[in-house]
Amino acid sequence: MQKIVIVGGEPLQGTISISGSKNAALPLMAASILTDESIALKNTPNLADIHTMGSVLDSLGVNFDKADLVSKNEIKLTYADSSKALAEYDLVRKMRASILVLGPLLARKREATVSLPGGCAIGARPINIHVDALTQLGGEFNLEKGYIKCEAKSGLRGAKINLPMISVGATENIIMAATLAKGETEINNIATEPEIMDLIDCLKSMGAIIEVQDNRRVLIQGVDKLHGTTHTVIPDRIEAGTYIIAGAITKGELEVTNLNLEHIDNMISVFKNIGVNILKENNTVRVKESSLINNIDLDTKEFPGFPTDMQAQIMVLLSLAGKPSTVRENIFENRFMHVPELNRMGANIDTDGSKATINPCNGFSGAQVMATDLRASVSLVLASLIATGETTINRVYHLDRGYERLEDKLASCGANIQRIQ
Ligand code: EPZ
Repeated sequence: MQKIVIVGGEPLQGTISISGSKNAALPLMAASILTDESIALKNTPNLADIHTMGSVLDSLGVNFDKADLVSKNEIKLTYADSSKALAEYDLVRKMRASILVLGPLLARKREATVSLPGGCAIGARPINIHVDALTQLGGEFNLEKGYIKCEAKSGLRGAKINLPMISVGATENIIMAATLAKGETEINNIATEPEIMDLIDCLKSMGAIIEVQDNRRVLIQGVDKLHGTTHTVIPDRIEAGTYIIAGAITKGELEVTNLNLEHIDNMISVFKNIGVNILKENNTVRVKESSLINNIDLDTKEFPGFPTDMQAQIMVLLSLAGKPSTVRENIFENRFMHVPELNRMGANIDTDGSKATINPCNGFSGAQVMATDLRASVSLVLASLIATGETTINRVYHLDRGYERLEDKLASCGANIQRIQ
């Protein structure tokens, strides 16, 4: 089992380049099922989840060409229509995003059997919204032995769908399915994360007819066929926000580049309210030593609100404020798993249901800690960077799911960090 060992106290100086977005790349990969022509994805991050999605797609008959992933962050996916429409449990359980093959398979093959993804550390994560909406497009669903079996013998037909709650994955699944449904589909109450807009851009470059309107509405005219494309994955806004916080708390001078400022506008205004010294230049953010960290009351929200995927990370920053802050987690029901580990490092955070109170603390001290989910584990890395002494983070496979070359990027800016077997 690999571990990461960090000795804190080094200010980060230099430049960190942001990789492509994991949460954009995953649905883009699933979209390859919608055509029998090749989809080439540039700026694809070399992450464990990308390889897992590649294995899921491979098991469904997609040729996953990753020869250029390490050297050029490029992959190519070509769906050779096959009899296989079964996404096995042992693959799906590794990564919930595997459920994103459901809509494309139903649209293309008119059937799909996908293992129920099951819950994970941050919550039960049901897929009722995916199923209900795909049913309205003509899918017939059955649940058998932990697998979702669905079919649409006469193909999918457009419908008017009002989503009961905002869901990133459900929005992605339904939009992908609707591109090949007969007639018009109107979907209301969609999620509008940049990753979804990136998927829509890619689908339109494949020949899909999609019109995004205001107030979370999208109109899709189904087409008979989609063609191949080459698409560049947008930068990872969560990775960018994570390194901006790293620059702020280590009191260095860090340049975070290759990012999309529009995607992190709200995040940056929250950081500025807290007192982070940020300069924005084109596709770069420069973070300098912040004289004073202010406390704030923060709610995680769907985009364009403050992202839940940044909740664990910002707790480390708020621990340095002189007064208590509150963070309310409104998206997931169990996303404070990082709190006990941060408290073991010296944080002073109380939780009460979905509300956390981050009290001032006297800094962090190194410890043996355990990663639990992707974003929780990176908050432990952030605390380790400013802790006195050495921190060992176990179960770093969580980190490898979402942060490309994390230790290289941090070490290149002066962090004392290494990975050990
Ligand atoms: C996506 O997950 C992201 N994953 C998550 O990032 C992110 O935290 C989340 O969106 C919210 O922004 C990917 O894009 C691969 P949801 P997703 O459907 O699609 C409930 C990371 O760290 N819900 O928007 O699963 C659900 O339980 C990961 O990169 C239902 O009740 O999120 C949750 O409480 C973690 N029924 C809320 O909606 C459903 O059918 C939002 O979930 C679907 C969702």
